[in-house]
Amino acid sequence: MLLSMQLVGGYGSEPGAWRLPGVDLHSHTDMDAYVRFARSAERGKIQLLFFADTPVLDADLARQPLRYVLDPIVVMTAIARETARIGLVATGSTTFTEPFNLARQYKALDVISHGRVGWNAVTPSSPDAAANFGAAVPPRHQKYERAHEVVHIVESLGGSWQRDAFVGDVDRGVFADPDKVSPVNVRGRYVASRGPLVIPPSEQGQPVIFQAGGGQEGIELAGMYADGVYANPYTIESGRALREALRASAVAAGRDADDVKMFAGFMPTVADSKADALARRRRLDESIDLRHRIQYLGAMLGLRLSYDDIDRPVPGDMLARAVANPADPRSERALEVVREGWSLRDVIANGVIDYHPVVAGTPEDVADHMQEWFDAGACDGFSIAVDGLHDGVDAFVDRVVPILQKRGIFHLDYEGPTLRDNLHAAPRYGRDPRLTR
Ligand SMILES: Cc1cc2nc3c(=O)[nH]c(=O)nc-3n(C[C@H](O)[C@H](O)[C@H](O)COP(=O)(O)O)c2cc1C
Repeated sequence: MLLSMQLVGGYGSEPGAWRLPGVDLHSHTDMDAYVRFARSAERGKIQLLFFADTPVLDADLARQPLRYVLDPIVVMTAIARETARIGLVATGSTTFTEPFNLARQYKALDVISHGRVGWNAVTPSSPDAAANFGAAVPPRHQKYERAHEVVHIVESLGGSWQRDAFVGDVDRGVFADPDKVSPVNVRGRYVASRGPLVIPPSEQGQPVIFQAGGGQEGIELAGMYADGVYANPYTIESGRALREALRASAVAAGRDADDVKMFAGFMPTVADSKADALARRRRLDESIDLRHRIQYLGAMLGLRLSYDDIDRPVPGDMLARAVANPADPRSERALEVVREGWSLRDVIANGVIDYHPVVAGTPEDVADHMQEWFDAGACDGFSIAVDGLHDGVDAFVDRVVPILQKRGIFHLDYEGPTLRDNLHAAPRYGRDPRLTR
């Protein structure tokens, strides 16, 4: 099982994380905090850290903390110097960034970290983020045409130095072999680059490529290029279907099905008991708009629910009329939890309306969920989004990881020094022969 740990914003995946007891209120800009989380994840042998990024101020600032504060490349550079094995994967847009900038930044960090970097190539859909670049979100097909060109160029620039191009022979006075460093000369409809990049290969050749989201076009992009995919299925069935589609897409692009690994987003809350986990999540929920959540829960179940009933379960006669709304893939689970007889507040605390599946419970509950998905072939691993980073990373590492290790589904140590070693991905030197034919 592969695991990635999300380090977004410095507080955690729940907007209320900044109000948990013991949180350092400067975590969103404090490199010591990020390094502490990273080292904790590394202690747990987590294969990689993951940084989502949407460069826009979109939080409800009066109540909620900033989310995408610092450029992930900058944060990862600080972390790279304070860690030794854990992989560092950051999100960078194919829509609003020039491929030469991307290639230069990610490869620089790849050499700085001795081969531990990955680029999560995304096609953003936020109009507000687009506005920060003086642009609008282009039509989908254009976004993906451009994405193919950008990834192609970044990959090509990354491979513009052959493995043994750097010589460093002091006696003969040979620094590098110019015959092994070549321009890329790629010109597309949207972007172009001559190259070569000015950076020699890292210990893994060049950065790993991840991709996140985006329907059939995203699956094609991932099949062509990605070593890892960050996904958000809500059920085992949909996870399995997406994983199979990604594997088939890799084969169609001339690769091996195992070359693309799917990470399912997952939000655990780890506590001594289910009751303690729910209490923690109720506290986190004080920072979200519960009126809106109750209304939304009603829409998921086809019921008119009132905020005034937040501390009561749904009465039996209403429950009999409830139907899971097929427009939201989370509705089946919401209905299941409502039927268990929780109050509406606790239904929400169970995490039925979060961005990824939530398990609020004991370390065994969390490990059981992960094993069930993994054994069912619903993913190759998980992108763990802990509720609050300041104690949640340690709780996951110290309490859940040992269970996964004891069950023989998670490794006991890093396979090697590079991210490719730990993803079981081949080193990549030179240009992809599929792109130069
Ligand atoms: C699990 C997941 C994570 C994503 N992370 C990011 C991100 O960090 N930054 C970003 O701009 N977009 C992110 N996206 C959005 C996708 O790049 C894409 O915009 C979205 O899935 C909409 O699909 P479309 O591009 O096909 O319109 C993510 C999508 C998914 C499914």
